[in-house]
Amino acid sequence: MRILSDLRVLYHLAVKPVRGADHAARLDSFYAGQASGYDAFRARLLPGRADLVREVVAAIPDGGSWVDLGGGTGATLEAVGPSLARLKQVHVVDLSESLLAVARQRIAKRAWPNVQAVRADATEWTLPPGSVDAVTLCYALTMIPDWFQAVENAWEMLRPGGVIGVADFYVSRKHPAAGRARHGWAARTLWPAWFALDNVHLSPDHLPLLQRRFETVRLAEGRARLPYLPLRAPYYTFIGRKPRGG
Ligand SMILES: C[S@@+](CC[C@H](N)C(=O)[O-])C[C@H]1O[C@@H](n2cnc3c(N)ncnc32)[C@H](O)[C@@H]1O
Repeated sequence: MRILSDLRVLYHLAVKPVRGADHAARLDSFYAGQASGYDAFRARLLPGRADLVREVVAAIPDGGSWVDLGGGTGATLEAVGPSLARLKQVHVVDLSESLLAVARQRIAKRAWPNVQAVRADATEWTLPPGSVDAVTLCYALTMIPDWFQAVENAWEMLRPGGVIGVADFYVSRKHPAAGRARHGWAARTLWPAWFALDNVHLSPDHLPLLQRRFETVRLAEGRARLPYLPLRAPYYTFIGRKPRGG
């Protein structure tokens, strides 16, 4: 029943303390009890993922490769549909064993021979430099302590002309660049404090770094309603291209 599954997820989001000696242990402390209800709840919590991933994968040539860093249960792969079979290699990379167990079940059930679930740190795991056609990070950067290293890692493995897709919650800088969304004091103060309770760290610096490293293909900034809350959290979706001379 959805309400019971939601209550279990909400308990882990809002009540249960996150414990663990290192980042991987803290992730599993957070996710182990909610892995089974993760997909249904996050489908309502994490906006823009499906469209972003479809657009990124559409840019990959036949026989190409896609790495989903912080890919969790592999839920975003469902959005791609049959065109996933066009790709030679897809890697779902994540540190949480409990979420990867769901990803492995999904891969087996769908019989996707070209998809592999890999337990590894998104800041370290890599393929030969310049060999990957697309990298995505959906709501993962905010959970990766060295998120800038995850972006650098994506940059290194992407081929020149390769595409990065990122979706995440964020807050704007106090004085953002012209044309970009500006969030007031309350949003810039309250949202980071609220998400940090779950070790999700909103940053005003994702977009400036992404736009510095990659050519912007598409950037959208919006607000999304969170399940059971009358509030709308700021999020962005970004698609960028590694410069051909890069
Ligand atoms: C909010 S979840 C999003 C999962 C998935 N991308 C999705 O859209 O459903 C964030 C993910 O980042 C993973 N993660 C956090 N730190 C990581 C790291 N250093 N390396 C790899 N994965 C990490 C978590 O385990 C979790 O699966």
